[in-house]
Amino acid sequence: MFGGLIRLGLAGLGTVGAGLAKILVSNADWIERRLGRRVVIKTALVRNPDKARDLPPDLNILLTADMKDLLDDPELDIIVELMGGLDAPFALISAALTQGKPVVTANKALLAERGNELFSLAAEHGTALYYEASVAGGIPIVQVLKESLAGNRIKALTGILNGTANYILTEMTVRGLDFQTALEQAQTKGYAEADPTLDIQGMDAAHKLILLIRLAYGRDYPLAQLPVQGITQVNPLDILFAGEFGYCIKLIAQVRESQGGLDAGVFTALVRRDDILGKVDGPFNAVLVEGNAVGPLMLYGQGAGDLPTGSAVLADIMALARSDCNPNNTGFPETVLPKAEILAPDLVRSRHYFRFSVLDRPGVLAVIAGVLGQRNISIAQAVQKGLPSGRNVPVVFITHTAQVRNVRAAVEEINAQSFITAPTVHYRIL
Ligand SMILES: NC(=O)c1ccc[n+]([C@@H]2O[C@H](COP(=O)([O-])OP(=O)(O)OC[C@H]3O[C@@H](n4cnc5c(N)ncnc54)[C@H](OP(=O)(O)O)[C@@H]3O)[C@@H](O)[C@H]2O)c1
Repeated sequence: MFGGLIRLGLAGLGTVGAGLAKILVSNADWIERRLGRRVVIKTALVRNPDKARDLPPDLNILLTADMKDLLDDPELDIIVELMGGLDAPFALISAALTQGKPVVTANKALLAERGNELFSLAAEHGTALYYEASVAGGIPIVQVLKESLAGNRIKALTGILNGTANYILTEMTVRGLDFQTALEQAQTKGYAEADPTLDIQGMDAAHKLILLIRLAYGRDYPLAQLPVQGITQVNPLDILFAGEFGYCIKLIAQVRESQGGLDAGVFTALVRRDDILGKVDGPFNAVLVEGNAVGPLMLYGQGAGDLPTGSAVLADIMALARSDCNPNNTGFPETVLPKAEILAPDLVRSRHYFRFSVLDRPGVLAVIAGVLGQRNISIAQAVQKGLPSGRNVPVVFITHTAQVRNVRAAVEEINAQSFITAPTVHYRIL
């Protein structure tokens, strides 16, 4: 299908697009040796073609602000979408697929929201939609699930999928910063965008998890049904207490097979500091997969940035070039994936961390322990700190495995007690 030269139509020449352009120049000979063909960007779609850009000097790219210059050019072999957003990329990708043109994208938000429509279009027109860079930047998790672990049943998949959130939590842990200061530092260092909402509210990790669930289970888990929690509520006090028990706090994206359905969600959780995921610090990402044949398998690396993400985009381009556009996009033969059986969040079982804010008076601990006991929540460890000046003290419990339904009911009952001075803080333990 492709000629001696692979010509790309690139939509977006920002962080990732420029990263891809740099790798295509710096590794040009190596790429050509591996493929037997050269890969070049012929045309790039941008918002403002006149903007100054930090690009290698020997690139000869035609810049345009008109999407038609990509769609109407029969010489382009692959459309690479790296602009972000929803409507414009949907229009571009759907038009390209309808023409039978293969597409590579890094747009997790679009694929989480409208991926099924786009994959169906690709299948209908016998072409491909590849998306390695959409999940965990430079980490090749899509390829691993689609190819390397294709014969495994995936028992669980647990990831730290958002580098911004992980950087903020690491700084709060290591330097004792509060959330706002850590966020501002992340923005100054370029680890967080000016508008970090999707990252700190857990939606970016949720988008990626939806894509991984499709790959790992061959099921469509609607984004709107996925329980999603962010990190904005994380209090330095809980980081300190977690540390006393040997844990740190991480933003976790997880899916696991459970009786009655898939248990999936994005949530802030306590992770043992000596656990393999507890050691993933700063802007790094990691994915721990448990296959029924391979056992546990961990991928760790840079989840964002120009060159790591560009590397994943290039891998898709080269895979397409090698396979002459293999239309097997999702890793599953169905064009529209069946809906996932979803475990009701109340039925999820895990261990829990509680911080109760109480008045320092006799009998309080006994009441709390009594309510927990009545709900079959058994306490594994407890800490009570008397603070020198106040009558309010934090009481922290770590529990054995308990059902979320019971935990919710117990917290409600305890919060209604007269000795409670602030709503109870509660996290799952991984
Ligand atoms: N940044 C990362 O580390 C990373 C990691 C993984 C995945 N991703 C995904 O990769 C995609 C690109 O991210 P990025 O960080 O590279 O974005 P970015 O730096 O903001 O660059 C966006 C590029 O797209 C162009 N663009 C945006 N909207 C456009 C429109 N409506 N019409 C024409 N051109 C438009 C911009 O043009 P101008 O240059 O003229 O403004 C710019 O060149 C996103 O889907 C993102 O989620 C990013």
